[in-house]
Amino acid sequence: MTDREERRITPPRGPDDPTAPETPLRRPGDDERVRRAIRSAIEADAGPLPPPPANTMEFKAMNVIALDHIYLAFDEPILEDVSLTAKAGETVAVLGESGTGKSTILKLLLRLLVPERGRVFVDGEEITQLNFDRALKVRQKMGMVFQGAALFDSMTVYENVAYPLREHTHLSEEEIETRVREKLDFVDLDPDKVMDQTPAELSGGMKKRVGIARGMANNPHIMLYDEPTSGLDPLTTGTITHLILKLQRELGATSVVVTHDVRSAFRMASKIAVLANRKIHFFGTPEELTGSDDPYLRDFLGGF
Ligand SMILES: Nc1ncnc2c1ncn2[C@@H]1O[C@H](COP(=O)(O)OP(=O)(O)OP(=O)(O)O)[C@@H](O)[C@H]1O
Ligand SMILES: [Mg+2]
Repeated sequence: MTDREERRITPPRGPDDPTAPETPLRRPGDDERVRRAIRSAIEADAGPLPPPPANTMEFKAMNVIALDHIYLAFDEPILEDVSLTAKAGETVAVLGESGTGKSTILKLLLRLLVPERGRVFVDGEEITQLNFDRALKVRQKMGMVFQGAALFDSMTVYENVAYPLREHTHLSEEEIETRVREKLDFVDLDPDKVMDQTPAELSGGMKKRVGIARGMANNPHIMLYDEPTSGLDPLTTGTITHLILKLQRELGATSVVVTHDVRSAFRMASKIAVLANRKIHFFGTPEELTGSDDPYLRDFLGGF
């Protein structure tokens, strides 16, 4: 009989047992307590533990989306050593001045662009090296709401929302209509009123709603938004922000929202990334951002 087997069949000894050894017996959970004590001692000494490196299983399992040390240049460098992550169900807002590379980040995630250096992970899969077919499959996991809504002007609202379903699924016409109605309902548009209208007949806020309905038509578990509230009045901005929050809460999607609107970023985001001078100038929670005394951030937030 091995030591281990003996320990398993020996009945546990109580405190009154005369044969009990002087050293107290190990109890279940002791290992965990020791680990926690060591961890908190390390953290007290050296701050929080660093995140796991990007090539580990732990990193891949943790993050639905990750940019890992990305470098990208067009005529001149745009992104230098840019890293950010989104865990399941998180919303990361990307803020930054015009031309800093916010839309470029979304294009990297959709693999419409490939970085010169660094890696992009979606659901733990490194996507920069994928062939066209496989990249298309990865893209289908994501719903995209484009900058400026970008609806097809010559198509009706129905056809706009049905478009990704026709492109990427084999649903019947009846199933497509059910899905289109469901999504228009979700974004608080009356399907019977708007389905046959063209984008030109809609207000700015309604166009954004149709853009969101189209983005979520495939039931993606990742949503990417490029300036979903740009050009809207404050009230409509509020309703669109509320809609994005509803989508996150009810569908649990992991989201990246590029926005100029600091107020809606704070309402939506679990993490905020601020891009400046080709780098991630800040990446953290909204509370950490408001608590920062970094002069650039204070200036950028404009007293928010
Ligand atoms: N295909 C391209 N070819 C060359 N330069 C490009 C290309 N796409 C983007 N750029 C440049 O890269 C930079 C970042 O562009 P990007 O569209 O990502 O900025 P942005 O932060 O989204 O700006 P905005 O807030 O105005 O939408 C800009 O200087 C832009 O001119
Ligand atoms: Mg942009």
